[in-house]
Amino acid sequence: MHLQQNKSLRTQNTFGIDCTAAYFVEIHNLADLEEAAHLPYPKRILGGGSNILLTQPVQGLVLGNCLLGKHIIAQDDDHVYITVASGETWHNLVMYTVEQGWGGLENLALIPGTVGAAPIQNIGAYGAEVADVIATVQWFHLDEHAYITTSGADCAFGYRDSMFKRSLLNKAFITDVTFKLNKKTQLKTGYGAISEELKKMNIPATVASVAQAVINIRSSKLPNPAIIGNAGSFFKNPTITRAAFLPLQSQYPNMPFYPANDNMVKIPAGWLIEQCGWKGYNAPTGAGVHNLQALVLVNRQNATGRDIWQLSQDILQSVASRFHIVLEREVQIW
Ligand code: EPU
Repeated sequence: MHLQQNKSLRTQNTFGIDCTAAYFVEIHNLADLEEAAHLPYPKRILGGGSNILLTQPVQGLVLGNCLLGKHIIAQDDDHVYITVASGETWHNLVMYTVEQGWGGLENLALIPGTVGAAPIQNIGAYGAEVADVIATVQWFHLDEHAYITTSGADCAFGYRDSMFKRSLLNKAFITDVTFKLNKKTQLKTGYGAISEELKKMNIPATVASVAQAVINIRSSKLPNPAIIGNAGSFFKNPTITRAAFLPLQSQYPNMPFYPANDNMVKIPAGWLIEQCGWKGYNAPTGAGVHNLQALVLVNRQNATGRDIWQLSQDILQSVASRFHIVLEREVQIW
C-alpha cells in the first residue's frame, strides 16, 4: 500500500476541481483496505468522483477505490447473479451485461461513476433504479474492521438515498455488489423520452436498443464531464405535499409534476431552476448552469468548488423565494 501526501484530486473528480487530500491511498485489494482502515486519520471514500464537489482541501485520508473484477455466482433459466467489484466503471458493467442480453441495467447506461457508488445514492434514470436489481451489497466497516453483507431489501433504498449515504457515510467501504439480472426480457420503456427515442430509432425494443436509446438521450442533453466539468444533477427533485402543490399548480399551470408516495408530489428541480432564469447562466467565476438541462451545474473555466457551491446557494435561494420550495443538494459536498 502506497500512502501519498498532499495529493491533488483534480483528475479524480468530474468537476475538475483542484483540491488536495492530505493523505491518499489506492485500494487495490482487501489487504490494502484492511491496512488503510488502521491508519489514524478520518477517512473518505472516493469512487469515480462524479457525485462530489470539493470545496476545501481534504484534511484526512482519501481511499481511492481500485477494486476490480466480476464473476457469475449463480444462474438459472430466468436469472443470473453477478458479483462485481466496487471499483469497476459503472457504464462498462452496463454494456457488458447488455452484450450478454441480460436485462436490468439498460436504463442506467452512461451514468458516470463506479459500481460501488451506485447503491450509495441508489442511482436512477428513465424509470429504473439500481435498487430494483441489487441482490446484496458486500462492505467493510472501516471502524469495526468487519466484512458485512446486506441484502438489497435491507439497504434502506429510497430516491437517491440508502443507509450508506446516511449513518454509514465514509464508514462503509463497499467492496462488491451482487446484481440479480433477467435473462427473460422485462423492459422498462414507459418513460416518455425512451419510447420516443425508440420510435425515432425505428428498431424493436430490446435490452441493447433501450441502452442505446438512453445513451442517445443522455448524450443529447447532459454535458460530457470529459469536456465540461459537472456532476450530473446537482439537486434532487423535491417532493412537496399536495396541500403545498395545489396553489402552486393554479399559479403555474404548466409546471410538470409526478405523483409520489403518501399524497406527495414530485416537481422537477430543473423546471424550477429554469423558471428562475438560471438555464445557461455563466458566472464570472467560471461556474455555470448547463444550457440544455438546468439541473446540471458546470465548471466552464477554472471555477473553484466554493464558486460552484456559491452558485448552488444562489439558485437555492431564488427557487425558495419564488416557489417556497427548498431544494436539497444531490451532490456530496466535501
Ligand atoms: N425540465 C425543464 N428544464 C430543465 C430541465 C428539465 O423544464 O432545464 C423539465 C423537463 O422538461 C421535464 C422534467 O423537467 O418535464 C424532467 O426532466 P428530465 O427528464 O430531464 O429529468 P430530471 O428530473 O431533470 C432526473 C434525474 C436524472 C435522470 C433523469 C432521467 C434527479 C435528480 N435527476 O432528472 O439523473 O437522468 O431524471 O430519468 O432525479 C443524476 O441523478 O445525476 C441524473 C442525471
